[in-house]
Amino acid sequence: MSGHATPVPMTSHRSGPLTGQANVPGDKSISHRALILGALCVGETVITGLLEGEDVLDTAKAMRAFGAEVTRDEMGTWHVHGVGVGGFAEPEQVIDCGNSGTGVRLIMGAMATSPICATFTGDASLNKRPMARVTDPLALFGAQAVGRAGGRLPMTVVGAADPVPVRYEVPVPSAQVKSAVLLAGLNAPGETVVIEKEATRDHTERMLTGFGAEIVTEVTEEGRVITLTGQPDLIPQTIVVPRDPSSAAFPVCAAVITPGSDVLVPNIGLNPTRAGLFTTLREMGADLEYENLREEGGEPVADLRARFSPDLKGVEVPPERAASMIDEYPVLSVVAAFATGPTVMRGVKELRVKESDRIEAMAAGLRAGGVTVEDGPDWWIVHGLGHGNVPGGQTCVSHLDHRIAMSFMVMGMATQRPVSVDDGSPIATSFPIFEPLMAGLGADIRRG
Ligand code: S3P
Repeated sequence: MSGHATPVPMTSHRSGPLTGQANVPGDKSISHRALILGALCVGETVITGLLEGEDVLDTAKAMRAFGAEVTRDEMGTWHVHGVGVGGFAEPEQVIDCGNSGTGVRLIMGAMATSPICATFTGDASLNKRPMARVTDPLALFGAQAVGRAGGRLPMTVVGAADPVPVRYEVPVPSAQVKSAVLLAGLNAPGETVVIEKEATRDHTERMLTGFGAEIVTEVTEEGRVITLTGQPDLIPQTIVVPRDPSSAAFPVCAAVITPGSDVLVPNIGLNPTRAGLFTTLREMGADLEYENLREEGGEPVADLRARFSPDLKGVEVPPERAASMIDEYPVLSVVAAFATGPTVMRGVKELRVKESDRIEAMAAGLRAGGVTVEDGPDWWIVHGLGHGNVPGGQTCVSHLDHRIAMSFMVMGMATQRPVSVDDGSPIATSFPIFEPLMAGLGADIRRG
């Protein structure tokens, strides 16, 4: 769990060319889902490439608390012996999901239709985040939740003893909410239907299909209508987790803004519901190339080459692209500072309820580094200064948010003066090898 240890200040200094191969860790979203679905089927699920970051390790611990056997062998392969749909045991202790909104929300969904009770908590960041978006639809199945004011953790969920299937239109674009409802629907008889107006990441749907569930997605005038038939016998799987495009975003953006750079990120997941950043970077004039496009384990993957791109232009990011790059706006705002002209980002109010208020956190740090940023409730504009002209020299607050910390470390690679963060320890939640990986490419990030 991050945020409890002593803060780890970090400073990023202007770097030489970044070159070589960036073997970023496994996809965080897919890793959580692999563990949870593995725990929901009888038999052994084998997972390679699992992200061994704190967020996912907390989910592994939680699956053990609900009765699954979860082990890691000496080769780094994970083995999950699950308990079957509806087979979760009642945990004896509080479930601590650390910093992970995905972990807690998906697990709440997975246990909400079993006759058990569980209490969830997290770190100071997670305990500020809204949970009603998940407990409201779970109540429709018959589950009950009691937490702190405003639907915050710590929170106790009592699962429904006789769950009923639901039809639910997700009111905010959130894959976590969609997934929580689908996971709850697994143990409800009949058809659970989830409707989303805007497409969000579809790893849960893809993985449920892989595990043998009957799940159909139709694109209609209402949006994406996802129908899941409850109480399936899930079949254990062998899962190869692709590398995380959201982690790849950091070396890719670093290469794009750092003179002379040429970085290859092999085998990254390119699910279209995740790839919005790369489309946007290309529109800005970034030199990105996909090589070896292929499909692995039901997910599209490719090798991605990123090179220094001196003539970036500010762009208007279409709001309908927001869900496919929601975690990448912080690092995009850094690239935007090195582009010429404004980059306009609208339809992004979800950024305000992530691990931190990401608009506020990035705007404060960028402004302190000499960049003009305007912002409103669901939009922000970064006025780019052009390559070589970004002053830097600031210390930024990371607010227990891994992506804020990593974004400012990327910024410091190309600013005139170094950029610091007060605490880089949250980076371990999603990208535990960030420092050695970036150093291996030629970045100069120092502790202190
Ligand atoms: C995730 C969904 C997104 C994303 C998060 C991972 C997931 O959150 O920001 O990092 O794995 O389902 P929301 O569902 O809140 O948009």
